Amino acid sequence: MRPGTDRVAVDDKGAAAEHRREPRVTIGTGRQQRVAQVARLVGLLRHTGRRLGSGPVPDRPADRHGAIVAPTTLRGVAGLEIERRQRLSADEVAQVTRLVDEVTEADGVRPLSEHVMLHLRYGGDTPARNLLGWLDSDNGRALAGYAHLDVTDPVDGASAELAVAPGLRRAGFGRQLVGALLAETDGRLRLWAHGEQPAAAALAGSMGFARDRILWQLRRSLYAPLPAPELPPEVTVRTFVVGQDEERWAVVNNRAFAGHPDQGHWTVEDVRQREREPWFDPAGFFLAERRSGPDVQLVGFHWTKVHGADDGHGHQPIGEVYVVGVDPSAQGQGLGPALTLVGLRHLRSRGLSSVLLYVDDTNTGAIKVYERLGFTRWDVDVSYRRN
Ligand SMILES: CC(C)(COP(=O)(O)OP(=O)(O)OC[C@H]1O[C@@H](n2cnc3c(N)ncnc32)[C@H](O)[C@@H]1OP(=O)(O)O)[C@@H](O)C(=O)NCCC(=O)NCCS
Repeated sequence: MRPGTDRVAVDDKGAAAEHRREPRVTIGTGRQQRVAQVARLVGLLRHTGRRLGSGPVPDRPADRHGAIVAPTTLRGVAGLEIERRQRLSADEVAQVTRLVDEVTEADGVRPLSEHVMLHLRYGGDTPARNLLGWLDSDNGRALAGYAHLDVTDPVDGASAELAVAPGLRRAGFGRQLVGALLAETDGRLRLWAHGEQPAAAALAGSMGFARDRILWQLRRSLYAPLPAPELPPEVTVRTFVVGQDEERWAVVNNRAFAGHPDQGHWTVEDVRQREREPWFDPAGFFLAERRSGPDVQLVGFHWTKVHGADDGHGHQPIGEVYVVGVDPSAQGQGLGPALTLVGLRHLRSRGLSSVLLYVDDTNTGAIKVYERLGFTRWDVDVSYRRN
């Protein structure tokens, strides 16, 4: 799944404004200076007609789907007007894309994941929400910030990515966007930052988020050769049966991930929630069983996932090694790599060209296994969590 997972246990795993009112700004130090700087930028907007993060700025779009969240006032400078939308118009997508490009240029790293960018352009998971942070000037509105909220994971809770235009930082707009995100959730929220960004860490820390984890995303082409899996003779592999395997799977999963913050405490209901997701496919969920006489013991599993297989994603589907686990009693026998290969071959048989996975940077054992299987580092994500 999208960041939030280290599913691997292998072997040892805010101005502007027509500013309808001139902002009352006193030039001072610290925050006041920054607010004044923003006010100057607003003036710049008025004089040059330049629109931040935008091509032509449309009037308020007639096709709005979301409500307008009341703007807050920040020490004399109006805050962002935040619109909450499920789908964006083509103009809005162009403005968000421009904002993302400006941020990428300024920070050296793109603030949104590829997955979010694709969903932005083509649509994606229906419950996903877009928050657009607007500033008003005489010339129209300018997009000062954007946040994408993903609420598709009922277990780990909502997760979000956000960015503020480089010239408008330290004016409280990031804080305002995060506040609006929180208002959309049950109080739990994960913020994802791409790359190690000090501003992201400072914003998250100042709002009570704790650094949660660093995830590497690894990828591998499915056109590159895939060796045949080598399983011990007493071990057979079958696919998961809904209504039958939930409990035993959860037991082995929790044993494999004992001590892991997210993955080590799954319940049957956690599994059932996933079963209700459109992407769930038992044909891509493999269980390894060891037979000894009449006894059959579940010793490992590989749960795969396909991103973007359903309509509306508009991007090439990509496979994911969703979670691989081996029971502690069976670790060290090559089951992890063998099960990984079983899943990769399944994903290849579905016509997919590549596969991704997320792994905690501390999970050196699993990283080694994946590198041996041809995975290489693609991206790094840092998550901050508030419960
Ligand atoms: C992170 C980001 C969204 C912050 O936006 P912002 O509008 O500048 O943030 P705010 O003005 O609301 O800052 C709120 C607090 O965060 C902290 N902060 C934000 N940026 C900071 C920086 N560069 N240095 C130190 N502290 C910072 C401060 O505590 C600040 O409060 P203060 O100004 O009263 O001291 C912006 O830098 C950005 O778009 N970065 C690239 C994308 C990104 O990293 N997204 C992930 C966010 S978790």
